[in-house]
Amino acid sequence: MNVTKFAIPEIIFGRGSMVHVAQCARRLGAKRVLLVSDAGLERAGWVDKVSEILEKERLEWSYYGDVNSNPRDHQVRAGALVYRETGADVIIAIGGGSPIDAAKGIAILASNGGVIADYEGANRVERPLPPMIFLPTTAGSGSDISQFCIVTDVERQIKMSIISRSLVPNISIIDPLILLTKSQELIIASAIDAFAHAVESYVSRIASPFTEIQSLRAIELIIRNFKPALDARDIDALEQLSIASTAAGMAFSNAGLGAGHALAHSLGGMFDILHGLVHPILLPAVMRFNAPACTEKMGNIGRLIVGDGHHSAEYFAQAGIENLKAFFANLGVPLRLRDILPDRSPLEQLARAAVGDACNVTNPRRADVEGLLGICEEAW
Ligand SMILES: [Fe+2]
Repeated sequence: MNVTKFAIPEIIFGRGSMVHVAQCARRLGAKRVLLVSDAGLERAGWVDKVSEILEKERLEWSYYGDVNSNPRDHQVRAGALVYRETGADVIIAIGGGSPIDAAKGIAILASNGGVIADYEGANRVERPLPPMIFLPTTAGSGSDISQFCIVTDVERQIKMSIISRSLVPNISIIDPLILLTKSQELIIASAIDAFAHAVESYVSRIASPFTEIQSLRAIELIIRNFKPALDARDIDALEQLSIASTAAGMAFSNAGLGAGHALAHSLGGMFDILHGLVHPILLPAVMRFNAPACTEKMGNIGRLIVGDGHHSAEYFAQAGIENLKAFFANLGVPLRLRDILPDRSPLEQLARAAVGDACNVTNPRRADVEGLLGICEEAW
């Protein structure tokens, strides 16, 4: 086996664990915290909740909340300005992947300077970042665990993948009780995103025994708990989805992703689409494209989806993909690219943008522009 690495944050997991956020900040030396979130979380009362906990601990704090889904480069720049002007020394983010990715971008600019596009790609962050504590409010993005940060470059219309070990936060506080307040659409989109992270990291070129076990566990937990979490808002099932998302985050942070996420990023850069809802469209076509390069592993995924039996890996690989398509079809989400794009004309640009995305490097089968275009055509 080649030399491998496995970096994760300190994880504080459990119902009600959010109350520990102030003590965690104190432990990291905080005098004045920058709290990052977005308008949706403000309306839902979560920003007030965190600020109350900080005040109880007599921690000063300032707030930055101008963050969209698919956070923009100018939002990261403005947040870094607030960090510097208020003399903050620790960053806390509460939210889905967007506020957390924005917080990571803010941390980079606050400590390394320049513009966020300077850090696009892998290992370009040189100086240490301020301490970071993240509280994920969805079970999906894995951004509270990962060394990835995705920020939209507005002018170039692309989502930049920034990958650096220093983007792993100091502490991730995962409180499944927050999921009880989330919409059906968000739970679906988040769980599917976590599922895509698990599948892509499992077959990644740089998957290791430390990541493979997390990927498989995440796939299994999502399949088992998706329905009860959605239908009955069962807190035990929601908690299992949180564990799955965390496991998938540990896996993809260290093993990378693949062509599915490369294409999801180029789609998200050109069209403002909820990230998790891109995967039901792309993932089956990506899995079919990759299957010849990793048949055994695709067979293992298929076995988890359809159940064990005496068949070949090829059989389970294909049966898993077909079953997954039927599963997505029951969710009432878009299933084809033609459902979300005006016509075929952006497909070539999508493939061209995706070929250079950092996620494409770890895809198990070499995916050039032609290959990626083929995936888009199959998903059309
Ligand atoms: Fe994702």
